[in-house]
Amino acid sequence: MDKKEQYRELKLQVQGLIEGETLEVSVLANVSAAIREMFGFFWVGFYLVRDNELALGPFQGTPACYRIKKGRGVCGTAWADGRSIVVKDVEEFPGHIACSSLSRSEIVVPLFDAAGIMRSELDIDSTEIGTFDEDDREGLEAICCLVAKQLYGNGQ
Ligand code: SME
Repeated sequence: MDKKEQYRELKLQVQGLIEGETLEVSVLANVSAAIREMFGFFWVGFYLVRDNELALGPFQGTPACYRIKKGRGVCGTAWADGRSIVVKDVEEFPGHIACSSLSRSEIVVPLFDAAGIMRSELDIDSTEIGTFDEDDREGLEAICCLVAKQLYGNGQ
């Protein structure tokens, strides 16, 4: 399977996995597990918007930072900008927050509600430089859209 096929397969899996469940923590836990099972990424997880900060949510991988402020690090920047961010080399991203020294590249994808408010973010870290490209962004945005529709009623 090439990467695009893996994302098509993963999207189908996620569709089945989240059907009928609307509890945020449970759905995001299973989605992070499904992504990690498919690709074996070093860290896969979600940050949730809580008290105007990003709070650590369900994840698979090593322990991570609890809270991130808007505009800080890759996650906080994706929140402030309201868009996905692909980081080829974390050392070249000013203000990158190193939850693990093993992390070398990263992708962050926001999940919006029906009003266009960001409610959570998918964050994935890799131990290799340049792991993520446009295929990952597209594949993960499609999956996050499905999940946002289920959890936050975003039918976009
Ligand atoms: N590297 C992220 C912090 C979260 S961890 O990667 C899990 C950032 O710069 O926002």
